[in-house]
Amino acid sequence: MIDPVLLQPSSGDVLEVILEDHRRFEDLLRLCRRTDTDRAAARLALAEILVAHAVAEEEKVYPQLRRSRAISGHLEEHGQQEHAEITEALLAFLRAKGTDTQKYDDTLEDLATAVNHHTNEEEQTILNPAREDVSATQRAALGAAWTARRNQLLEEGCASEAQVAALLKEAVATSVLAPEDARKEAETVKADAKQRAKEIEEAAKS
Ligand SMILES: [Fe+2]
Ligand SMILES: [Fe+2]
Repeated sequence: MIDPVLLQPSSGDVLEVILEDHRRFEDLLRLCRRTDTDRAAARLALAEILVAHAVAEEEKVYPQLRRSRAISGHLEEHGQQEHAEITEALLAFLRAKGTDTQKYDDTLEDLATAVNHHTNEEEQTILNPAREDVSATQRAALGAAWTARRNQLLEEGCASEAQVAALLKEAVATSVLAPEDARKEAETVKADAKQRAKEIEEAAKS
């Protein structure tokens, strides 16, 4: 049963209600970090709201903003890719056993990094153009459509481990996200390059 507080508000300017959720992500991430809270409950609430928020954006907001030419198709695809990266980090967090382990802390840190990166970029590259290019009437209509879908997903339950795993599988199947082995290989290349850059800096200092 989802906390009824998370179902508020049920309407409003789409930009404002999305921003309100972004602040909620921060609050819930903080609750997941604290040691004097019900971390298991905070983790479940965070999972539900992250999934409902992103799915409703992809279904009700991004396509409309693209059609109104507030954002490009490339930006829409990039937003979807970042949602898939959050889904992947969320799955690892949900799979971490217990709430007082190193694995819990590490996967929470990775999730926070992915969420913060995305909300920052979405606010700068998607919400800001929409503020200028989409009328207040349209933004109110989008706000109603987005909150209705988001709240429906929250009421149905959308972020069990199996549901998040299925979302990730779909993202790879539809090429929103590259297959895991390709991303691992890319990470290795990046790590090697970083190490090499560090060696160059150290050599220059001495
Ligand atoms: Fe968002
Ligand atoms: Fe998003």
